[in-house]
Amino acid sequence: MDILKWLANFIGDSDEKKLKQLQTLITKINALEDSFRSLSDEELRQKTEEFKQRIAKGESEDNLLPDAFAVVREASARTIGLRHFDAQLLGGIILHQGKIAEMKTGEGKTLVATLPAYLNALSGKGVHVVTVNDYLAKRDSEWMGPIYRFLGLSVGVIQSQMSSAERKIGYASDITYGTNNEFGFDYLRDNMALSIEECVQQDVNFAIVDEVDGILIDEARTPLIISGMGEDNQAIYKKADTLARRLVKDLDFTVEEKTKNAVLTEQGTKKAEKLLGIEYLFDINNMETAHQLSQSLRAHHLFEKNVDYVIKDDEILIVDEFTGRLMIGRRYSDGLHQAIEAKERVPIKQESQTLATVTFQNYFRMYKKLAGMTGTAKTEEGEFWKIYGLEVVVIPPNKPLHRENLPDVIYKNKRAKFQAVVKEIEASYKTERPVLVGTVSIEHSELLSTMLTRKGIPHHVLNAKQHGLTSFWVRE
Ligand SMILES: Nc1ncnc2c1ncn2[C@@H]1O[C@H](COP(=O)(O)OP(=O)(O)OP(=O)(O)O)[C@@H](O)[C@H]1O
Ligand SMILES: [Mg+2]
Repeated sequence: MDILKWLANFIGDSDEKKLKQLQTLITKINALEDSFRSLSDEELRQKTEEFKQRIAKGESEDNLLPDAFAVVREASARTIGLRHFDAQLLGGIILHQGKIAEMKTGEGKTLVATLPAYLNALSGKGVHVVTVNDYLAKRDSEWMGPIYRFLGLSVGVIQSQMSSAERKIGYASDITYGTNNEFGFDYLRDNMALSIEECVQQDVNFAIVDEVDGILIDEARTPLIISGMGEDNQAIYKKADTLARRLVKDLDFTVEEKTKNAVLTEQGTKKAEKLLGIEYLFDINNMETAHQLSQSLRAHHLFEKNVDYVIKDDEILIVDEFTGRLMIGRRYSDGLHQAIEAKERVPIKQESQTLATVTFQNYFRMYKKLAGMTGTAKTEEGEFWKIYGLEVVVIPPNKPLHRENLPDVIYKNKRAKFQAVVKEIEASYKTERPVLVGTVSIEHSELLSTMLTRKGIPHHVLNAKQHGLTSFWVRE
């Protein structure tokens, strides 16, 4: 797609001035291409020094943008063999402006990030490129690394298993790739450090967040928590579990599915008091036992194995009810996780105490400049603006999109829906077209699998139970 023509279509729109400015920038970058192509590797590399000095002398990054982007494009073509398309330049400008660039999947967002990352790293204040998992952080830093290094900048990557010393090196680099989890946790750990030498992260200056809708919206309120050991209540967990097994549903207690609560009846309370050998269960001295008993009842009657959680290597892992992904490292609070551990007879982990916490939302709001990219942002435009003051700009694809987006189909009930799904799959299978099916839960994927097996349609199931190690699907 001709980006300049595409932009021209919008002229006359309310943002005319802004669009004209974008056009001018892209024209300028393109105009520099021939002269930069004629430079030797060494001359091209020297541009970085020149830009750094210009910044140090007070020239603005905005002013340097055309030169810097043209240099990155040339360096990229020489090192990794990819020359940024105009649509990617446009995406890069949007990121530099601290906005969200919506670019469809496969448009090359990884490469887009190199443009603003390079430009903003020239000031030496650091740029963080944030991805959703360790694998992508490493892949992107290694894939894009040659461009930066060719131009004389350093690139670091933070991985979850790294030591403090390794992290320090990663953060001291001009550009640092890592996951939202690692950036957030390092911030927390630094906050708890007793001396400045122990800190690993430097300023939070500029962040470019990949899959920005996932990190800034879906996970916005997810708290990152650093915890220490609390009291050891093993005896109470076990006692409550034993007791819960002896109480009878609807006689000794009732459960309410909607609020996920379990409440003792009078008879149940008496029975519990007798079995525990205490006079009054709701006495202040027995509060913890009473609380844990109610958690154990919930664990036994409201939380179902392979639906709400799975057991892997003797650990209870929570299943996200919306995505079916395993929520590695998350625990139910208030003794519920321990109650489930007791129920499943796996080792009970001590309850922990929160020492430091921050949500992703608050963490990312600390950056002096924040930008993001994703295939889908427009639908959450309002939230991005309200929570982060981030504007969403939709970048057209480099080549017209061929994928058809079909409307949703609604069925009266699950049975009809799954039958229709199987029929659809069967039809595609017969014409030898591969099909990727997404389901919301492990249960649904297994149900579909059974239905497909019955029809003799060969398939593979990839769900959190079989592949517990990652919670994100990675395309390799
Ligand atoms: N300028 C370019 N010229 C040629 N190929 C390119 C260019 N930019 C990107 N690509 C190729 O496009 C493919 C997709 O790139 P990338 O994974 O960065 O896309 P993406 O937009 O991040 O997609 P997703 O939304 O799936 O993460 C890669 O194989 C990459 O090599
Ligand atoms: Mg990507």
